[in-house]
Parts: sequence; C-alpha cells; structure tokens
Amino acid sequence: MNERSVRFGTLAANRNQRLKIQAVRGMQDLLPGQKQIFRTIEDTLREILASYGYEELGLPVIESTHLFSRLVGEATDIVEKEMYSFDDRSGESLTLRPEGTAGCVRMAQEHGLLFNQTQRFFYAGPMFRYERPQKGRYRQFEQIGVECFGMEGASIDAELLLMTHRMWQALGVEGEMSLELNSLGSGESRAAYREALVSYLSGMRDDLDEDSQRRLQTNPLRILDSKVPGTRALLADAPMLSDYLDEASREHFDELRRTLDRAQLPYRVNPYIVRGLDYYNRTVFEWVTGSLGAQGTVCGGGRYDGLVEQIGGRPTPGVGFAIGLDRLAMMLEPGFESSASADVYIASMGDPARHHALLLAENMRDRLTGARIVVHCAGGKLKSQLKKADVSGAKVALIIGEDEVTSGAVTVKRLDTGEQESVTETDLFARLSTILSKE
Ligand code: HAM
Repeated sequence: MNERSVRFGTLAANRNQRLKIQAVRGMQDLLPGQKQIFRTIEDTLREILASYGYEELGLPVIESTHLFSRLVGEATDIVEKEMYSFDDRSGESLTLRPEGTAGCVRMAQEHGLLFNQTQRFFYAGPMFRYERPQKGRYRQFEQIGVECFGMEGASIDAELLLMTHRMWQALGVEGEMSLELNSLGSGESRAAYREALVSYLSGMRDDLDEDSQRRLQTNPLRILDSKVPGTRALLADAPMLSDYLDEASREHFDELRRTLDRAQLPYRVNPYIVRGLDYYNRTVFEWVTGSLGAQGTVCGGGRYDGLVEQIGGRPTPGVGFAIGLDRLAMMLEPGFESSASADVYIASMGDPARHHALLLAENMRDRLTGARIVVHCAGGKLKSQLKKADVSGAKVALIIGEDEVTSGAVTVKRLDTGEQESVTETDLFARLSTILSKE
C-alpha cells in the first residue's frame, strides 16, 4: 500500500466511525420495561399451556428455503416477497423462519413423533418477514405457536379456542378480543369454489385493485380478505365458500360450533377469512381486536390436515395457531406497571467497603433466596448512591463505610420511611427477611 492509499484508508475509516449505526428497519429494540411485558405474557401463556398438557419444542431459526416454499405455498405473500433468504457458504439456500408451523411439522416428522400418536406441542421465539413496517407490524416479531397432531375431530379445534380464550382472561384482555371463524372445506371443495370465484371475478377484472388482479391468477381466495373498498364491494355478490363446503367439512364445522355454543364462547362466522398461508383446510380462525388499529389480528390459526403428507409423512391431521406477542404487548402496555429491579441496594464508601459489599451480597444471595440484591459498583458520593437506590425501587439500602467494615455492622436504611438503624452482620439476614416479607 502506498502512502496515498493509507491516507485515504484512514479518511474512510474516520468517516465510517462517524456514521450513526442504528437498529435495522423493522427490528424492534425492547427496553427493560417493554421486555418485562413480553416476559409476563410468555410466563402467563406457558402456565396455561402446561395446564392443558402442551410440551415445548425448540425449533431452529434457520430452515431450508424449500421447506417454506413447499409448505407455506409459492403463491403466498410470505414466500413471494417476505422471506429473508440467503445462500450459506456452501451455496445452500436458507431462510430465517417466517413462521413456525412448517418447521414444527418438519421436526415432528423427522423425529418420528407423528405416526400413530397424538401430540400437543408449542414453541416460542422470533419470526422474520420482510413486510412494510408499521405500528404492530415488524420484520422481526415474537410468536408463541401451538401445533397439535393426530386428532381428527372438532374437539381439538374447540380446545384450542377455549385455551386461547383462557389466555386472554388471564391477561385481562378478553373484553377486547373477538373470535372470527370460517371453514375452508376440503382441497376438492376449495378447488371447485376457486373456479367459481375466478369465473365471477374475471368478468370484472378491470375493476379490481392491482393486487387482486394479480391474485386472480396466483391465489384467488386471498382476494376475499382484500381491504380495498372497491374490491370489497364487488365481493358482496360473489359466490360464497360456504355453499361449496363438502359434507364432512360442514359436519366438522357444525360440531365445532355446537361445542363453542355449549361452552358459551362467543364467535362470529366470517366467510371472508381465508388466511395468508396455503396449508389450511376446514377450520380457520382469527382473534381480532379493535384496539390496535390496522394490525388487529392478535392470533390466527386453523387446520392443516394435508401438511404432514406434503413433507413425505403418512396422512396425519394437524391444527394449531400462533399468537403475535408484539401485538398483545401493545394491548397490555397502557396499564402495565413494571416491577422494581431491586429489593436491597448496597451503597459503600471507599474501595475496602465496596469489596466487602460484594462479598456480603454473595452471602446474602445464598441466604435470602429470591431477593434481588444490587451492589453499587460505580463509586460516587453517598447521596448520589442513595438516589440510585431509590430509582431501583429497593425497599432497603445497606450503607457500608470504613467503620462498618471494621465493626462488622451495617447501616440499614428503609427507603420508604427513611428510618435508619445499625445492625450487626450476624443479625442482618433475619432483619432483612422481616423487612422484605412485610408488604
Ligand atoms: P400468521 O397469521 O401469519 O399465522 O401469524 C400469527 C400471528 O403472528 C398474527 O396474528 C400476528 O399477531 C403475528 N404476526 C404476523 N406477522 C407479524 C408482523 N409482521 N409483526 C408483528 N406480528 C406479526 C402463522 O404464522 C401460522 N404459523 C399460525 C398457525 C400455527 N397456524 C397453524 N398453526
């Protein structure tokens, strides 16, 4: 390298250093308070899932691209334009999972978990879709997904809906959620309906919005959930999917509805729900809320009885759903009080006292199980340390100075009342247990 290129290199490096690096568009940073909401939701949902006997699976975030194009469907928005796909160093095309059902079916089939068995699984984690970001719609988002296998009757569909309702109750949002149901029938009945719909809409092709014109060729059923008013008006007189349902699907749907009626779970049959993924048959459903604006679907799912066969397995009924945690978190955010980060905050003056504080804290964590103990490690005056203690939400501050190190006593300060007392280290644990157990 000559002197000139070294100089340019240095200039470029300086310029790059000044470039502001920010989060990638559509990727959310979750600050501590926000992350706590996600954690609370997840804990609540996990508890309910356990109470119904669901077992957690760990699915890879990366799968072969073929998995999604084959199982989610070539003509879906997800596969057509939303996947984060890349070639790895060996040239294999891989994709960051845009959803969990395909991976779950792949995993269950690969490990022999499906043949002649009934299974209730769930998984949690991030999904990735290259969508246009807006409130409630991100390029990385969190789902808890549930998949059940080997159960043909409508009772498992009903169980899923009752379980989700219990989840909304536990989170205190059941009043804001409504359930929309539809049946897509069998593959054959859907093919017959598709033909009727295409023939009806082809007559008015030019009046359809651009997206729907394209879908007329690729995925006509998706036109049913178009949000464009002109297209919606044309759909008013379109043939109805329900008129094409095969007998077995109609019975399945009636049975589901009877169970929901008996359980007094309100729902609305919405003939326009077709879902954006190709694998569904029979029951499909969405839990929607009016409180989130355009991105009001918090949970969606349905049956996919042909999916296991598509991946090379024997015919195995399947049904499931996924909940978008980001959207649920938005619903909970207004009333959410994030909890304090500490119970006890230890302030110290000088290096020997700080070392002492660290060791004392270790000892306390052994004896005061569950208590959150934070040691002030940043130096500074006592006043500013106590301010930090207040901000942490701790009930008690311990103050350790040189005198305390030599005398083996610490000052215990109640942060709510300001009361202070000197307590020997021998009595400290008992004293703290009493204070912390009092509400
Ligand atoms: P999905 O309807 O594509 O279904 O997604 C389920 C939920 O994930 C949505 O209702 C929404 O709450 C959330 N979600 C989807 N995309 C985004 C996004 N870009 N930003 C924020 N949240 C989003 C599935 O994924 C199916 N795998 C569900 C399923 C499981 N069906 C059967 N089993």
